[in-house]
Amino acid sequence: MARSKFAGGKTGTGVLRRLWPAERELFKEHLLRLDAVTRRERFGTAVNDAFLENYAMTTFGVGGLVYAYVEDDVVRGAAELRGLDDIVAQTGEAAFSVEAGWRRRGIGADLLGRLITAARNRGIRTLYMTFLPGNTAMRRLAAKFEADLVGGYADVEGVIATGGPTPFTILDEALDNATGFATLALSIQRRFWPTTLLARALRA
Ligand SMILES: CC(C)(COP(=O)(O)OP(=O)(O)OC[C@H]1O[C@@H](n2cnc3c(N)ncnc32)[C@H](O)[C@@H]1OP(=O)(O)O)[C@@H](O)C(=O)NCCC(=O)NCCS
Repeated sequence: MARSKFAGGKTGTGVLRRLWPAERELFKEHLLRLDAVTRRERFGTAVNDAFLENYAMTTFGVGGLVYAYVEDDVVRGAAELRGLDDIVAQTGEAAFSVEAGWRRRGIGADLLGRLITAARNRGIRTLYMTFLPGNTAMRRLAAKFEADLVGGYADVEGVIATGGPTPFTILDEALDNATGFATLALSIQRRFWPTTLLARALRA
């Protein structure tokens, strides 16, 4: 199975980490920046801003999990895992979007690696990815992770057998989450500092 080029979570000046519900605005802004072609590749059809705004609001509900590549407090790539609420089926669905200027740096591969680990740790044995037949990038990315590709006329389905959880996959995710919390706390602090300084200056 493919290993990420960015093991350790860093690529460029950004970081790959879990995105939390409090950060859904960052996810929404990322989706809204996607051009028409990318939107079609990601959602299988043309979608407008209103659809994406609504989609971003529902993504962090029960059964959803998001990993993101975050650079300067801006989300440039995201991977979603859905279906966690269906414990019986033990299947999940993954979907990806990396902004055009950030592609071919290994972000997509790293995001898929994180999702596979997260899926394993939650008892998901089969991970599905659906994409358009002409989507070479996604086809190759899925193949890198030894996905079985089932071709259809309208779309292609990539199927990855994830395997069960191990102490290593659990530790891996725990470390990831610790990084995620720490960087979330830092970015909140950064956003609040200027306001706090201003308030102090006004009181003095
Ligand atoms: C698919 C997508 C997520 C890949 O993201 P990425 O960050 O560019 O992917 P990576 O840099 O990790 O590339 C991983 C592998 O995918 C393949 N790949 C990626 N882009 C490719 C391209 N344009 N042409 C051919 N192969 C490509 C390569 O095999 C690559 O490995 P390599 O660089 O070692 O050769 C990105 O192209 C994207 O957001 N596309 C639009 C949305 C979409 O199609 N989503 C999928 C539907 S769920």
